[in-house]
Amino acid sequence: MQSQRLGNAEARVVKELISVVSDPTILKLISSCPMAGVFRDGLLEGKTAFVTGGGTGIGLGMAKRFAEHGAKVMLTGRRKEVLENARAEIEAAGGIAGTAPLDVRDYAAQESALKRTRDEFGSIDIVLAAAAGNFPAPVLGMSANGFKAVIDIDLLGTFNTMRAAHQFLRKPGASLLAVSAAHATSPIPFQSHVCAAKAAIEILMKTIALEWSAEGIRANCITPGPTADTEGMRRLAPTPELENDVKSTAPLHRFGTRDELADLALYLCTDAAAYITGATFFCDGGTSLLKSGTLMGEVWKNHLNSRSSRD
Ligand code: COA
Repeated sequence: MQSQRLGNAEARVVKELISVVSDPTILKLISSCPMAGVFRDGLLEGKTAFVTGGGTGIGLGMAKRFAEHGAKVMLTGRRKEVLENARAEIEAAGGIAGTAPLDVRDYAAQESALKRTRDEFGSIDIVLAAAAGNFPAPVLGMSANGFKAVIDIDLLGTFNTMRAAHQFLRKPGASLLAVSAAHATSPIPFQSHVCAAKAAIEILMKTIALEWSAEGIRANCITPGPTADTEGMRRLAPTPELENDVKSTAPLHRFGTRDELADLALYLCTDAAAYITGATFFCDGGTSLLKSGTLMGEVWKNHLNSRSSRD
């Protein structure tokens, strides 16, 4: 290869550029830029996404990222007003979104929302099952109906979403995602219902990955750790002390962000992930490496013990 020498003027420009980008203020600005900046723009242009649990938390974070990259997004959830606010946020940022208030346990409602999504936005390229239920309670502190409520929202809900979506998917090319949790592989006290549901969701998604692979459909799971600004954390770490306990137990000593999870979801829906199916990806700051039950279980046990000793 022939080397080229810079002329004086060009060398001056390069020197100036180097001095600008090494300025501490500029470096700080660059490092504070949202992670979305690492992806090429418009990665999901012309695509359609269907998101359960899309009105808040992790589901909304991922839906926003899909919309930022050009996908038309259908948001579903139980609360109409919450969905409308989410839709307004996406539209204010220049995205295209629709809403479908429904309960994921209702198969017919999901099927009709999926059909409407296909009719209004085109064949569905991305399905994200992010709807989830949770309350902390020991096995002896929940009724059979309490256990069933979470199994039905998480597991049956994910089955309903994927099963009903199949007929409206783009084939080949569709990417299916389900939100799992460390609960799938670690028994966590006070979370038996979520542990059972998330373990089942992972094996369900792997089975779907096998059954639908011949049609060019991929199915993967994402495992978040403790994530800031989510209903889950508001419920599971509702006091500053519990929040600090969770953070100090986590290997990276902080909560994850919805943006970090959204970037992983975006990646899994691009061609860069075309050979990835039946996999579970952790975006949890290393919390899955902890001893079984260390995280939420110990935190809650301490919390409940200190509460009962105060009572
Ligand atoms: N402790 C023990 N049992 C509880 C409970 C708690 N904190 N919260 C609800 N239940 C039980 C109810 O008592 C009921 O059982 P019962 O009929 O034997 O009394 C059963 O769960 C169903 O409750 P219900 O209020 O009828 O309805 P639901 O279908 O709306 O489900 C939740 C309840 C709590 C599962 C659901 O509303 C939910 O998960 N909401 C939170 C969403 C959330 O946090 N998402 C993020 C998850 S990470």
